[in-house]
Amino acid sequence: MARALELLDAGQVVALPTETVYGLAADALNPEAVARIFEAKERPCFDPLIIHLPDQKALDQVSEIETETVQRLTQTFWPGPLTIVLRKRDTIPDIVTAGLETVAVRMSANPIFTEIVGKFGRPIAAPSANRFGQISPTQASHVLDELGGRIPLIVDGGPTQHGIESTIVRIVDGSIEILRNGPVTAERLAEFAPVVRTRLSSAPLAPGQLPSHYAPRAKLVVVDALESFSGPSGKRIAALSFRDSTALRRYWTRAHLSERGDLREAAANLFQRLRELDRQNPDLIVAELVPAQGIGAAINERLRRAAG
Ligand code: TXA
Ligand code: MG
Repeated sequence: MARALELLDAGQVVALPTETVYGLAADALNPEAVARIFEAKERPCFDPLIIHLPDQKALDQVSEIETETVQRLTQTFWPGPLTIVLRKRDTIPDIVTAGLETVAVRMSANPIFTEIVGKFGRPIAAPSANRFGQISPTQASHVLDELGGRIPLIVDGGPTQHGIESTIVRIVDGSIEILRNGPVTAERLAEFAPVVRTRLSSAPLAPGQLPSHYAPRAKLVVVDALESFSGPSGKRIAALSFRDSTALRRYWTRAHLSERGDLREAAANLFQRLRELDRQNPDLIVAELVPAQGIGAAINERLRRAAG
């Protein structure tokens, strides 16, 4: 952690654990440091980054709190996996927001991240620590696979708690618009204001909205029920199921998301299981949709995007 702080101070990038996925962190107020994030990820520069605050009061330095709803959301869910898009102040360099007038802000609940950003004392820009378009890392070894040799340090905090990226919202006309589903569910958010789902547009606000994202190397298709899927014969077909079932033995290889049929556990395992299947180099991965309630909506969203 001391080394991470030295590197951040020196304008370098470091991979840090958060409670959602591993992030590739740099000083959000230093444009050159932020440029190193794009370089390491090979990320197109039009893609804006999330900034992570050291504490609640730092919010006022980076953005204008527009509504009472925002205040209630931050009081309830921060620190935690909720990102809020707000009008930005001029302190935030354009490279962070890709020239947008808004900035995406959150406060991580991971104790390692919290300690580092707290000592750093300034906002940290951190997208997921994977190469652009690839699966987000939920373990330090995933970051090493994706970015090894390109970044000076990975802080290993073990597997991440939630396993999928934070929920992203913005407030539009008093409603909460969900730009990316995540651990803070639509059901929870509806306690604070009416919730509207975002319309998909050709110029996505969040690349999580790009049709192809979180992509494994193997081709992936999404189905309602794996039992009834009949794919091309003679192919090595990998099955990704919600629960285990003997009916899946006919698949070339398989993995399941939760022994207990628990959606939170499924979310935490999702990217790891996708990687495991992808590493075996199948001809096709067939993934089964999970029940769509709660965090299940976020899992299904990622599966559909991985299918492209
Ligand atoms: O859980 C997370 O959010 C992780 C951890 C590391 O914090 N971070 C993460 O960052 O997923 P990233 O960069 O992989 O995804 C951030 C998403 C992108 O889809 C980006 O387009 C969107 O947030 N975003 C950033 N700024 C935005 C803005 N001003 N308006 C709309 N969307 C924005
Ligand atoms: Mg990402």
